[in-house]
Amino acid sequence: MSAAFHLLTIAEIVDETAEARSIRFAIPDALADEFAFKPGQHLTLKADILGEDVRRNYSLCVAPQDGQVKVTVKRIAGGAFSNWANDNLEPGDQLEVMPPHGSFTWEFSREAKNHYAGFAGGSGITPILSLLKTALLTEPDSKFTLFYGNRDSQSVIFLEELGRLKNRFMGRLQVHHFLAEEFEEIDLFNGILDRAKCDLILGSLIEPEEVDAFFICGPGPMMDAAEEALRQVGVPADRILVERFTAGRPSAAMAAQMQELQEQAAGMAMIVTLDGRKRRVPFSAEAGNILDSARLAGLPAPFACKAGVCATCRARVLTGEVSMAARYGLSDDEIAAGYVLTCQSVPKGEGVEVDYDA
Ligand code: FES
Repeated sequence: MSAAFHLLTIAEIVDETAEARSIRFAIPDALADEFAFKPGQHLTLKADILGEDVRRNYSLCVAPQDGQVKVTVKRIAGGAFSNWANDNLEPGDQLEVMPPHGSFTWEFSREAKNHYAGFAGGSGITPILSLLKTALLTEPDSKFTLFYGNRDSQSVIFLEELGRLKNRFMGRLQVHHFLAEEFEEIDLFNGILDRAKCDLILGSLIEPEEVDAFFICGPGPMMDAAEEALRQVGVPADRILVERFTAGRPSAAMAAQMQELQEQAAGMAMIVTLDGRKRRVPFSAEAGNILDSARLAGLPAPFACKAGVCATCRARVLTGEVSMAARYGLSDDEIAAGYVLTCQSVPKGEGVEVDYDA
C-alpha cells in the first residue's frame, strides 16, 4: 500500500438513508492501478476541519467488478468527519484519499463452492456488501447468508440494493433483517444482534459447520456477540473475519502500564524507515507512541484512527522490542511476522528500528 494521499474529485454522491451517503470518486487513468482494491478494503479520507487534520477510514461498498471506487459515510453522534462530510460534500469537490488498504478480505476464486455468512450492524454492512457482491459475482457455485441488524427499516443502508441482489442471485443470497425498534410477527427478527440472538441464529438459520468463512462488521458489542457465539459452537478462528473501526477504552491497568513505558522510553533513539529514507528519531513521551514521535520529527508517517483498529500506521519492527497497547488491526500472522501498530507502540529499550515500507 502506498501511504501517499491523492487529491480526488467526487464524481457522485448518493443519499442512502437520512444519515448515510455514498461518495464515488473519479479515478484518473494514471491512478487506476493504485486504486485497484480487494473486496472489504477501505480508503482513508483526509480533510482540514476547523484547522484540524482529520482522517477517517471508510469501507468500499462496491465489488472490484463494479468498476467504481465508492465509500459510504454514516453520521455518528459527535463524529467530526462523518457529520462534516454529510453536511458539506458535493459532486465536484475534491478530497485527499489514500489508496485502498485493509485485511478484511477474502481471495474468491471461480472454482470455489463455498458458503459465506455475514453479520452486519448499521454501516458495518459496507465492507460486507463489497464481499458479498464479489463472492456472488466471482464464484457461480457459492452462496452467501447475511444477518443484518438495524434500528428500523428507515435506517437500513442498501435495503433496495440487497433486494435487487437477492433477485439477481436467486437461491444463492439469503438476507435476514433484524430490527431493534420495529416489530414483526416472527420474534426471532425483532431486537438487536446480541449474544442471545446470535446463539438463536446459529441454532436455527444456519449450520455453522457448513460455512467456510464468517464476516463480521458493526458496533463493538454486536461484533463481540457474533464472534463469541461462533467460537462457542466451535468455529475456528481462521474462519471468522472481523472488521473493527472503533476501539474500546484501554483498561486503567493497561493505561498505567503504557504511561510507565512511555516515561522510560523518553528520549530513546529509534531508527524509522519511511518511503525509502532512514531517519534517527527520538521517542517522545509527550507524543506517547512511535507514530506521533516520528511525525513530531517531521516524518509523514501514515495514520487514520490512532486507536489500534485500522492498521494504517502498520510498520515492521526490524530490531529491538516494542510494547503495543491495542492490536485489533493486526492478524496473528502479521504479529508473528513482526508487524506493529505504531500508534499503539512504545519502545521497550534502545535500538528499536521500524520500517513503514516493509
Ligand atoms: S492509525 Fe489506525 S491503527 Fe494506528
